[in-house]
Amino acid sequence: MQRIRREMFRYGQEDFDLDYLRWGFHDLQTQRNEAAAVLAMLGPAKPLKILDVACGLGTHAVEFARAGHTVSGVDLSATFLERARQKATDAGVNVRWIHSDALALDADAQFDAVVWIERSFFSLDAIRRLRRYLRPGGLLVLDERNPEHPRAMARGGDWRTWQEKDGRFLLERHEVDEQARRVDCWIEIDPSAGTITEKTSTSPQTTLQERIDLIRQAGLGAIELRTLSGEPFTGGVNDYWLWLLARRPQ
Ligand SMILES: C[S@@+](CC[C@H](N)C(=O)[O-])C[C@H]1O[C@@H](n2cnc3c(N)ncnc32)[C@H](O)[C@@H]1O
Repeated sequence: MQRIRREMFRYGQEDFDLDYLRWGFHDLQTQRNEAAAVLAMLGPAKPLKILDVACGLGTHAVEFARAGHTVSGVDLSATFLERARQKATDAGVNVRWIHSDALALDADAQFDAVVWIERSFFSLDAIRRLRRYLRPGGLLVLDERNPEHPRAMARGGDWRTWQEKDGRFLLERHEVDEQARRVDCWIEIDPSAGTITEKTSTSPQTTLQERIDLIRQAGLGAIELRTLSGEPFTGGVNDYWLWLLARRPQ
């Protein structure tokens, strides 16, 4: 077998995005449930101006538009945006799709809500930038894993999975290195092509508490955690997915 190695494998590179389409996204129903939960938390006022950050295939953005909001979706990936555009056409809704780094928009104080689901990175600079996009009083919505939940605890360490699809085997190896960075490695074994392709991506990690501190440092307030169904989160290990809400002060 031939072994092919590739470092710094990232979103926006066409072959990464095509791989991700095959293996990575949450299923459609999960994404629709997420969108419904966000809509419930946003309340009845409409139309709100919503920015879906790193919108991927656009499922959430399309659901927000179907609910009557004025929606923009921004993503680095032309591959994903092409599908998002088609999804909006099929649903008969209008979404403004922006092909860009989400942190490079000229959109100061434009949005009532900025929603960032299944993000692939997090930093103080990123949150500062998203804060700028919010109007005073506007809401930032992030998804989070409950760090106390056994599944989240297992993910925080080293873990491996594999799946078989179309005669190929995809193995995932996720590890934390000595500098507390996450090293994600996807290994695809294609017996018919005789190849083992190994692709690696390294990214810094933060804990939920560190992210909350950075959100506060970025100038957002009224920070709260909610359960997936939008109830205040009071702790415990029943919920795996949580919402983190924060507001730009008035
Ligand atoms: C895990 S996917 C999630 C997509 C979508 N939010 C969802 O929940 O299905 C991460 C997305 O972030 C996008 N992305 C990563 N870095 C980005 C950046 N700097 N600006 C815009 N999009 C970015 C990727 O192209 C990808 O669509």
